Amino acid sequence: MFKFKNEKRELKRIIEAILLVAYEPVKTVAIKKVLNKSSDTIEKIIKELQEEYRKEDRGFQLKKVSGGYRFYTHHDCRDYIEKFFTSTIRGYFSQAALEVLAIIVYNQPVSRITINEIRGVRSESVISTLLSKRLIEKASKGFGPGHPILYKTTPLFLESFGLNSLKDLPPIEKFSEDIKNETHSKEENRYLNIINTKDGNRYLNVIAIDGPAGSGKSTISKELSRKLKFFYLYTGAMYRTLAYLALKREVNLYDEKALTDLTIDSPIEIENDAEHNSIIKIDGEDVTNKIFTNEVSDASSKIAIYKGIRKVLSEKQREICEKGKIVVEGRDATTVVCPDAIVKIFLYATPEERAKRRVKQLIEMGQEPPKFNELLKQIKERDERDKNREIAPLIKTEDSIYIDSTNLTVSQVVEKIINIYRKKTYVI
Ligand code: C5P
Repeated sequence: MFKFKNEKRELKRIIEAILLVAYEPVKTVAIKKVLNKSSDTIEKIIKELQEEYRKEDRGFQLKKVSGGYRFYTHHDCRDYIEKFFTSTIRGYFSQAALEVLAIIVYNQPVSRITINEIRGVRSESVISTLLSKRLIEKASKGFGPGHPILYKTTPLFLESFGLNSLKDLPPIEKFSEDIKNETHSKEENRYLNIINTKDGNRYLNVIAIDGPAGSGKSTISKELSRKLKFFYLYTGAMYRTLAYLALKREVNLYDEKALTDLTIDSPIEIENDAEHNSIIKIDGEDVTNKIFTNEVSDASSKIAIYKGIRKVLSEKQREICEKGKIVVEGRDATTVVCPDAIVKIFLYATPEERAKRRVKQLIEMGQEPPKFNELLKQIKERDERDKNREIAPLIKTEDSIYIDSTNLTVSQVVEKIINIYRKKTYVI
């Protein structure tokens, strides 16, 4: 298995170093790519490392989570680590966390809805992180419809920021002048992740497009992202990839629990190549060419009805959108993934036109198209499932712009959307 006596030792050191610097659990396949060793060899070395750390009762322990390996600090050290972070905590906050903390500090007790309204973007994940770090806590339930939960800062917050009491904070008026000056020039908008409009609203610099299968979303979105130099986020590819995996691993398409577990355990990576085509990878393996068969198309809309799957995938999609400069398309891009997109489009084409386009697409991909009527039937069935499902159904929101692409060329639709974007953001 090893060429030299010291080779194993060397491999162990490298694996240890990789595991230490990685942000997320590392799978054996990822190490395999770097070391060119068999999975068995890598697994064996990791097991040895795990055993060594355990036997020596070190500050770090190596654990297997979500199908990968990761170092965790020993639970004995927890209090000291917490103390260390509280003494140097300010350097460890993201911009989003600082924004939410500032809103809570000056408005407490405050509800999640108010926080979202002030920030202009959804803040649920930031709020849960701050709760888990015990910097904020639930104050009480508020009044009004639904009695929303209110949040306030904790004594740990004061300690972390070197404050004796909230009175030590500078008055809010001190900041208002800075905020007034924070107006971006019109030409800059295209490069921002958040856009403040004249009416005082804040939007993500995202174009979100929903519509039924084959309405042209992918072609249009790709072209738009190329022109604007945005990232193209094809959410359907994620559902397709899961369906492909489920079929490959013979997971029952009606077993919600098994499918949800599969979603959690299968980190799907989505990238753009130089032409802004979506490249989909699972564990580093490029599966892009395998997810467009008719069987996968049909299975994807079947599994897309499940809440657990949608939650995991749409959170991941939302995270990408928050970076801004994204064209996102799917069935719930305008409703769930990015309701605060600066431009929202509902793209439509008749089922017959969409079936024609699909035949052309399959032929171009070198695949045998099914009979036209069979395809039309499948498209109509998928439409029904997408429109009528309980969770995140395909709908046109009130503020989405409806475009019927049946008799329009790709460039006509792209031009229309760029004009809408230009009007909203005063750029290009
Ligand atoms: O967009 P595309 O047709 O490739 O998506 C494949 C399937 O994934 C759709 O039929 C739909 O059921 C599902 N999907 C979804 N939500 C999204 C994107 C796709 O339910 N945001």
